[in-house]
Amino acid sequence: LASVEVNLANIPVGQAVKVMWRGKPVFIRHRTEREINEANEVALNELVDPQADDARVEKKEWLIVVGVCTHLGCIPMGTATGEARGDYDGWYCPCHGSHYDTSGRIRRGPAPKNLEVPTYTFLTDTTVRIG
Ligand code: FES
Repeated sequence: LASVEVNLANIPVGQAVKVMWRGKPVFIRHRTEREINEANEVALNELVDPQADDARVEKKEWLIVVGVCTHLGCIPMGTATGEARGDYDGWYCPCHGSHYDTSGRIRRGPAPKNLEVPTYTFLTDTTVRIG
């Protein structure tokens, strides 16, 4: 499918889901206030791939990223409830130990880039179209 519509109404704060888009997983996380603050508190010059959180989200409570590690393409953990989220509360790639933060930015480990942000559009407050 070229694009996929996702209903966000049933994703509680603090939870994330995985949807498939063009054969790739896309993670959608309903961020908590604390996760949003963490994403904004880090100084850009501490980042491997410097990008402000604002440049990666359209609505601050919704983080939407392609769930493919930018090292060698494994699927990071941290979307399902109870999975390890790594040292920065985002995602953890168990293949070679990359840690992503609550903005999906690489913070530690061999991955060179942040998790990719796909093209998306909010159709309503609770419906997003990816692609
Ligand atoms: Fe994720 Fe290597 S593929 S750390």
